[in-house]
Amino acid sequence: MQPFRYHVFICDQRKPEGVPCCAARGSAATIDALRKEIGARDLIDRVQITTCGSLGACERGPNLVVYPEGVWYSGVKPEDVPELVESHFIEGRPLERLANHDEARLRGEIQSNRNKFMAAQRARDAAGVLPDDLNQTLRGYMESRALLTALELDVFTAVGGGATAAEVAQKISTHPRATEMLLNALVSMGMLAKQEGVYRDTPVTARYFAEGSKDNARHGLIHTANIWHRWSNLTDCVRAGTAVGHQEMADRNDDWTKPFIAAMHRNAAERAPLVVQAVGPAAGERLLDVGGGSAAYSIAFAKANDKLHATVLDLPPVLPIAQGHIDAAGLTGRVDTRAGDLRHDALGKDFTLVLVSAICHMLSPEENQDLFRRCREALEPGGRLVMQDFILEADKTAPKQAALFALNMLVGTPAGSTYSYDEYRAWMEAAGFKAVREIHLPGPSSLMVGVRG
Ligand SMILES: C[S@@+](CC[C@H](N)C(=O)[O-])C[C@H]1O[C@@H](n2cnc3c(N)ncnc32)[C@H](O)[C@@H]1O
Ligand code: FES
Repeated sequence: MQPFRYHVFICDQRKPEGVPCCAARGSAATIDALRKEIGARDLIDRVQITTCGSLGACERGPNLVVYPEGVWYSGVKPEDVPELVESHFIEGRPLERLANHDEARLRGEIQSNRNKFMAAQRARDAAGVLPDDLNQTLRGYMESRALLTALELDVFTAVGGGATAAEVAQKISTHPRATEMLLNALVSMGMLAKQEGVYRDTPVTARYFAEGSKDNARHGLIHTANIWHRWSNLTDCVRAGTAVGHQEMADRNDDWTKPFIAAMHRNAAERAPLVVQAVGPAAGERLLDVGGGSAAYSIAFAKANDKLHATVLDLPPVLPIAQGHIDAAGLTGRVDTRAGDLRHDALGKDFTLVLVSAICHMLSPEENQDLFRRCREALEPGGRLVMQDFILEADKTAPKQAALFALNMLVGTPAGSTYSYDEYRAWMEAAGFKAVREIHLPGPSSLMVGVRG
């Protein structure tokens, strides 16, 4: 069987720092160039690209092999890619200047590298050296912290298409020596490029982290930087069983609230169409969006159904932000806002749909049961409760993101956590909901739906 004319295996193996490997020799850029060139030449149906582990000629990477011919290429740089594609995949002639012709030499090289690798592994094992992946997890905070600091200081906007460390330091009012250290670390992480002392954003950092890009996510990501400080207290929180130094949402200032709601909005704007499709609102629906945040879900429901009216219930500091999004969506009057405390207040009457999205993880089991009871009172008979959140498997160890998010709630709330399907179903049934079921959505969070009996 030959579903493709050519199959390229290209190595993207990363080895420990200082050990020669294709990743350290720039395989990511070569793979990117190859994929783009294959796309641009309309060869996607003829040439399949598969990334793979070490091919053995590690000192001469990036390495790739083209089948069915079995031609091995070494040292393929992004600038070689157009010539390689033209020669091998269009004209059907291997590109001789990069191809390995001496099979005996190649075999020897592969064998010698394999032997060196095995010997190094045995020595590390005998010495009890920590495995690399364990080390990487232990030190993961260094890269995370460097990137978060870059976002807090808006480094990627300052660097843009080219700036020296001194110029960046001047733009963002930081210390020149320290700024250079930060920029160099960001280069080592692949977040910036550097040439002759001039730094540049990569296409990825320019797209997601720089002002002026339509996909700039920096404002919402400042929320991740804010949360980072809480995670430093995790040890104390595990000892105490609750968030240490917790501050109620209502008492936080705009420096917290604005990035928080921006982060929620970005996430919600992407998920809302999926939720609307899964729930499928009927005409004339009256929606209560409990803790509705930026109003992204209410807006999506209202856009999908022009007979729907929605009320966003949230804390007073959040409502002007929600109102801004509602006005911008042209839904003033069809989506309104109401100040209220979802922990204690009565939620209203005669709604046909109550949405509780990304709220239950903030609350304790008892608070969730109480909230579901008040949601039932707010619904007319036959009305539906739709709850969206991380839903853990029964033993609470997966999905990983949901299990880790429980710790995010431990460090950030008095009694929040993430919960399992069985817990949600039991609480909803105890509150008087029937036909309770889960609707799976892509990602670690899903929906639970129940009908007021
Ligand atoms: C994680 S966000 C979820 C926002 C929105 N439902 C979504 O899914 O994008 C939690 C929301 O609950 C609101 N909130 C927190 N405590 C609240 C309270 N006691 N009463 C009302 N709203 C509250 C927050 O202001 C925030 O908008
Ligand atoms: S790391 Fe790529 S060939 Fe060894």
